[in-house]
Amino acid sequence: MNADNRYLWPHKDLLDVTQLTGGETLHLLDLAARFQEINRRPVKKVPTLKGKTVVLFFVENSTRTRTSFDVAAKRLSADTYPLTKSGSSLNKGESLKDTALTLQAMGPDVIVMRHASSGAAEYLAGLLDCSVVNGGDGWHAHPTQALLDCFSLRQAWQGRFAGRTLLILGDIAHSRVARSNVHLLTMLGARVRLCAPRTLLPAGVKNWPVDVYSDLNQAVRGVDAVMCLRLQLERQQAGLLPDLAEYSRRFCLTAGHLKSAKPEARVLHPGPLNRGLEIAGDVADAPASLVLDQVSAGVATRMAILYLLATRRGGTS
Ligand code: CP
Repeated sequence: MNADNRYLWPHKDLLDVTQLTGGETLHLLDLAARFQEINRRPVKKVPTLKGKTVVLFFVENSTRTRTSFDVAAKRLSADTYPLTKSGSSLNKGESLKDTALTLQAMGPDVIVMRHASSGAAEYLAGLLDCSVVNGGDGWHAHPTQALLDCFSLRQAWQGRFAGRTLLILGDIAHSRVARSNVHLLTMLGARVRLCAPRTLLPAGVKNWPVDVYSDLNQAVRGVDAVMCLRLQLERQQAGLLPDLAEYSRRFCLTAGHLKSAKPEARVLHPGPLNRGLEIAGDVADAPASLVLDQVSAGVATRMAILYLLATRRGGTS
């Protein structure tokens, strides 16, 4: 593919969707659509990033984000090098700073990092000359997940965000996916509703550009899509959820709830899923579910991100 890079991508790093304008977001999504066409070919590989190096530095577990960045980079002919906490000298006490400087000394073009601490990717980006992509940092942000979710919704909604309503359901308080999606979707013109038990709503939610519900039957009425979030089971130990069965009874999305959404409403989940807890198994597997489309969209969207960062010709941010 000969992607048009006359568009001057101004960002050295992708740390949060808040750094993107609407125009930059749509440019990235348009580019992802072109890369998606490559992913449908019998031979899914182009030489676009031949000679470029991408390090996949995952200090926290991941299936989708890590694998799809690896697939995305390889489809563009970049070389990839994975590093996880368990296989690294972080486990011998080496600091994040020394680990990052060591990786940079090997000359990568892009480092994709996931870390349990909010702000870790920004810290790395300030330290390193190469591009840094935030593959999820603590509760703070998951920009590439939000971009791929927007890619999937843009296709499902025939390119139109204005007048559409997304319901985000579940553990909003601890969700970097929710934070990034609320920002990106509202910037693109969609309305966002949140539904969660009070203990799983974030502090300061009153200042978010959303409508908040505690009753799923009301929240789902007339929406164009529902995004279920993984219930982080460790929250029960923290006393935020006295009873999982009660949580499931009130907040698990079922086919019955979807009857009051728009007839063409779609269902998303960033994964991994707890079937029967936040999403009924038959809902996850139904034709309205975009769960696996989101995974495919993740490869195309991450191809676009790597392409823009690894080939950019200017800008300093
Ligand atoms: N959605 C998401 O980030 O999944 P992984 O944790 O498997 O990467």
